[in-house]
Amino acid sequence: MKNYTKKFWDILNLIEDYEKYGFEDTHSEVSFSEGTADSKDEMLKSVREKVKACRLCGLSGLRTNSVPGEGAVNPLVMVIGEGPGAEEDKTGRPFVGRAGRYLDKWLDAVGLSREKNCFIGNIVKCRPPNNRDPKPEESFTCFPYLEKQIEILKPEVILTVGRIASQIMTGRSIGIGALRGKLYHYKDIPLVTTYHPSGVLRNPSLRPRVWDDLKLLKTVINNG
Ligand code: URA
Repeated sequence: MKNYTKKFWDILNLIEDYEKYGFEDTHSEVSFSEGTADSKDEMLKSVREKVKACRLCGLSGLRTNSVPGEGAVNPLVMVIGEGPGAEEDKTGRPFVGRAGRYLDKWLDAVGLSREKNCFIGNIVKCRPPNNRDPKPEESFTCFPYLEKQIEILKPEVILTVGRIASQIMTGRSIGIGALRGKLYHYKDIPLVTTYHPSGVLRNPSLRPRVWDDLKLLKTVINNG
């Protein structure tokens, strides 16, 4: 019964999105065939291509570019944000706006960088209009892409930034202030949560807490 209710809401949401954005629902969910790709590069490329062609939710009808994520192929850390903003939508690259430049500083402070040892991704791969929170059904629909990326990348640690990514990846629906400061696991991968860089830019008093979270991240890396 629960399954039918969910299907019913999925269909209603698809109709609502279709009426609003006119996207084409060519397939109902993300699927990955047992491909012949044998290198991480090839497997990541195949996810990237699927994301570029994705029309599974209404966000796809609003995008300039989808933002599959990018970075090191054997990352120490996979950073997971919420979803692309205006700059990211324009360029197709994750965290390249003001918040992204701030995130780069955080990573640099603990010896990390997106070029050398981090992969940067997001919960949803297309920009939500006016930077609103992704809807639960958008996050749910997009999640298999992230799941597949994690499976391919096998990061040593995951760092989630912001409430949405932290709640989804820990499966807990409490605020980020209560979530952060502890170590979690996603499928056996250690996971650290912290505030979103754009939240910290708005509220610099959060900086000491972010620093504590980055130190926790560093400790987990060093112990790994
Ligand atoms: N904020 C996010 O959560 N992700 C991005 O890629 C950019 C800004």
